[in-house]
Amino acid sequence: MKMPGRPEKKNITNIFNRRFINFLLRSSVAILESDASRTEKIIKKLLLQAGALCKTGSLSLFSLQEGSGKISILASSSARAGRIKQEYSTSSVSAACRYLRNGLPALFFPPLKNNQVLHYFRLNPHAVSSLGVPVMQGKKPAAFLLAEFYIKSWDTQAPGISFYSSLAKILFAACKKKKEHQNLERERFLVDTIMKHQLDRVYIKDSRARFIKVNKALLDYHHLKSPEESTGKTDYDLFTREHADQAWQEDKKIIKTGKPCINLVEKETLPGGETRWSSTTKVPLRSKSGKIIGLFGMSRDITELVHTREIIETERNLLRTMIDNIPDCIYVKDRESRYLLNNRAHLELLGCSRQKEVCGKNDFAFFPHAYAGEFFSGEQKILKSGRPSLNHVSLVLNKEKKQIYMLTSKIPLYDKDKKISGIIGISRNITDQINTENELKKSYEKLKKNINSIIYTMAHIVEVRDPYTAGHQQRVAELSMAIAKKMNLEQEKIYYIQLAAAVHDIGKIHIPAEILSRPGDISDIEYSLIKSHTELGYEILANIDFGYPIARIVLQHHEKMNGSGYPHGLKGESIMTEARIIAVADVVEAMANHRPYRPSLGLKLALREIKDNSGTLFDPAVVNACLMLFRKDHFNFS
Ligand SMILES: [Fe+2]
Repeated sequence: MKMPGRPEKKNITNIFNRRFINFLLRSSVAILESDASRTEKIIKKLLLQAGALCKTGSLSLFSLQEGSGKISILASSSARAGRIKQEYSTSSVSAACRYLRNGLPALFFPPLKNNQVLHYFRLNPHAVSSLGVPVMQGKKPAAFLLAEFYIKSWDTQAPGISFYSSLAKILFAACKKKKEHQNLERERFLVDTIMKHQLDRVYIKDSRARFIKVNKALLDYHHLKSPEESTGKTDYDLFTREHADQAWQEDKKIIKTGKPCINLVEKETLPGGETRWSSTTKVPLRSKSGKIIGLFGMSRDITELVHTREIIETERNLLRTMIDNIPDCIYVKDRESRYLLNNRAHLELLGCSRQKEVCGKNDFAFFPHAYAGEFFSGEQKILKSGRPSLNHVSLVLNKEKKQIYMLTSKIPLYDKDKKISGIIGISRNITDQINTENELKKSYEKLKKNINSIIYTMAHIVEVRDPYTAGHQQRVAELSMAIAKKMNLEQEKIYYIQLAAAVHDIGKIHIPAEILSRPGDISDIEYSLIKSHTELGYEILANIDFGYPIARIVLQHHEKMNGSGYPHGLKGESIMTEARIIAVADVVEAMANHRPYRPSLGLKLALREIKDNSGTLFDPAVVNACLMLFRKDHFNFS
């Protein structure tokens, strides 16, 4: 359009400027209004349109990272831009920076001194000159637009400079928008991936606790088919009112106060009536300005864990109830003999009422040093050897400082790696039992003494009725005991041999006194009657429980090794050792001592008698012992 009064050239410039300004305005609006996802296309279109508008060879926008010494292409109309190296060398950058540092555009002309620079930046092989226009951020250049031309010169005063500067700013803003969009897309992808593969329920709610975004785990939990089914819903749509009320109160609190709730254990009841447990963490969601616009939540299903805990708790209670109601003391100690667990009975023994009064302490805190030291060393042995100590009776002081007897078993306690981690002890107070046993022992001893007294009294009666054998049984008892000792028989056997010998002729109580006391020859019938004293003695004694076969010894005291004795003609080993001893002692005593009806036959003759009949009538072992007693030990009847 021709303007009156103005030169033609100026009009062209104005028109030219106007076209540029129009283009820049349209470009700015396009960028501002563009959907972020379409920014890439708009940048491409801008580059092509601008190139066509001012007949430029190519237009390229470089980002300039002065600190890192690198530049890279942000956008370019050149077809080569995608193929050539994206990053340029340090020398190119420093050269570019040298030109652009002061924020002024720079012209690059070959063959200027810095033709290297042109060489590196040239994207269009047919371009012969180029113009670099910086985009300043504060005082530093952040990017520059490189325009390449087919002509060898460019007027730096031309109105085009301001056009390129403005175009560079618009392009840079568009590239930033594109970058932001890409970052956002990447972040969204990451969040989506995390949410998709997260086994916990993840969700975002708005300020009125309505679901905005949920993950697959949450959809599955509530049997929802797609995220759209959850959008806009609240906990009231997914849970029973009871739980939804509770969740709403919590959500309101977080949104109001901004305080997160961490690992809150919640009991959730689903509309179908199923009850589940969750551990929930919710944090407030804020806008860029810091205003709370909702919340981010994560809920982990811990139903199995809660059930397992309940089972463990039930078992623990059961075990505790059991051990607390057992009268025996039960306790668990660690490797340093410190108490970990004690049942009620043991706490009472230690004078305590609660577990925490005992935990971590050892026996030195409860017993005198000597007792505790003994317990400790015993336990250390078990821990070292792995061998239990069973039914050990120990003396302990109770809380009243009274000595009590405890029957204790301690066994090693193994951990899951099969290593000994401590000991389990079980102790029973057996003081009453031991006292009762001692009482019984005393009673038994008393009873035994009484029975013995009765027996000896009966034996004495026999001897009173038969003055010819007065003191005989007592002396036979004395010798029998000495022989038994010589033969190294057991203590108990020796005791009962003496007892049996002291009453061996008790059966004579039934023989008429006139037969027993008559001196001189007796008839066969009378002799048979006298012989019956062994069986009569057996009958008397068989009814008394000596805890030892006294009656049988008495029955056999006239049996002989060759079977020639009475009453049953037993032979050798079938005769009890005790009876064989009394048989020898009986003969030696009878022959060696005086009788009212005859003088003593002499010890010598008595010993010869048993020696001559050793093996035939008498047990050789008994005979040997008897001979040694008299010949070596100089035994004398008292
Ligand atoms: Fe006899």
